[in-house]
Formats: sequence, structure tokens, C-alpha cells
Amino acid sequence: MILAANFKTNHTRASTINYILQLNTFMNENSIDDSVIVFPPSTALDAFESSKLQLGVQNAYPIEKGAYTGEIGLEQIEEFGLNTILIGHSERRHILNETQEEIAHKFNFFQSKNFKIIYCVGEPLSIYEKGFGDVLKYINKQFEGIDTEYENLIIAYEPVWAIGTGKVAKTDDIKRIHSQIKNITTRPILYGGSVNKNNIKDILSLKDVDGVLVGSASLNVNDFCEMLNISKEISK
Ligand code: PGA
Repeated sequence: MILAANFKTNHTRASTINYILQLNTFMNENSIDDSVIVFPPSTALDAFESSKLQLGVQNAYPIEKGAYTGEIGLEQIEEFGLNTILIGHSERRHILNETQEEIAHKFNFFQSKNFKIIYCVGEPLSIYEKGFGDVLKYINKQFEGIDTEYENLIIAYEPVWAIGTGKVAKTDDIKRIHSQIKNITTRPILYGGSVNKNNIKDILSLKDVDGVLVGSASLNVNDFCEMLNISKEISK
């Protein structure tokens, strides 16, 4: 299983250090074999990685360095020896208005640098309400310009209406969408959208779910560790 924690615009540099230390200790003491990825804010990036715990950037500009005020590029990421990035997250698509073209460009840039890419797709509520066919069409468009067989790719299916709302997609819907995405790619597929310690067991037990991408419920390190424990129990 793959468990990823997306802090978004939460946690400081100081609280991230404490979080990572606690998480690392927990993973070692409990022999956690799952692959764990943490996405802190850019101000808290550092060379924290261990063999099992990876750190990634939530976003970056597809450039080595240059005049892109407010952005970070490859040079700033590589300073920490990091090579994992989240691309296509719904908040970047819908709040920051990134287009599919820009997202594909970013994807291609970081693919050319051999980054591990967690690539997010997912439909807004208005599309969900139209039915399964429309959801699939919408998601297919989010794969335009994306090399779906890239060897360092992990997909995250995150329905927009389930993110940060406490509304998890129905298990049948998750199964159906994941099995359709499996027709597009052989890479692992995570589910994201209001995953927490109470529902993670049901979600990870579903066919074609290879892990989870957790936002709000990952902010508390004890809760995230509890989720790792649940995942370990399932894998037995
Ligand atoms: P959430 O966020 O767990 O708070 O719904 C998930 C995500 O945006 O990746």
C-alpha cells in the first residue's frame, strides 16, 4: 500500500520537523512496510527522507530556475535531494485555475527529470450528478497529454466534492472508477477525499485501491500513524 499525507497550507517548518521525527520513529518501531509520502508546504522542505519515508513537493514550476516570482523550480527541490511531486491536484485545477495544458506541461517536465509523480484526477459534483458516463469522460480528459505508463507514476482519484468535505465517495463508486482507470494505466491508484482513521479500512480493502492520499486527517501525526497501523493489519 501507499499512504500519502498532503498538508496543503498547514503546518510550519517547526511542526513539520516534529511530525516527521515522530512518524519516522513510529514506522521503525512498528516495522511499517508501506510506502509513505509526506507533502509539507514548500517552506518546510528538507532532506528528511529515510528508506521508507519520502518527502514530496505539493507543486513547483516546470523550470530549472529563473524569473517566476513566487514559484519554486527544480534547483530549489534538488537542494534537498527530493524527487517526488504532486501534479493536477483539484485545488490547483479549480482554485489556482491550472489548465490541462499547463498540467500536462508540468507533468512532462518532471517526468523528463525522472520525478515520482502523484497525478490527481477527479470530477466536481456537477459532473458526478450527471452520472457515471460523464464522470468517465471528465476523467479521461484529465489524462490528455499525460504518459499514463510512466514508470514513476502514481494516480490519485479524488472526487472534488469529497475533498475536505467529510463526504467520502461510495465504495461502489470508488471500485467502479478505479477499475476503469485500471484500463488506462497499470500504475498504482490511490483514493483521496475525506479519508480518515474510521473509513480507511473499508477503502483500502477495495479491489483496485492501492493506497490513499489523505489531507485533513493526516495533519495530526497520531491519527496518520493509526492509519498506517490499520493498513498494516489489512496487508497481513
Ligand atoms: P482531504 O483532502 O483528505 O482533506 O479530503 C484530500 C486531498 O486533497 O488530497
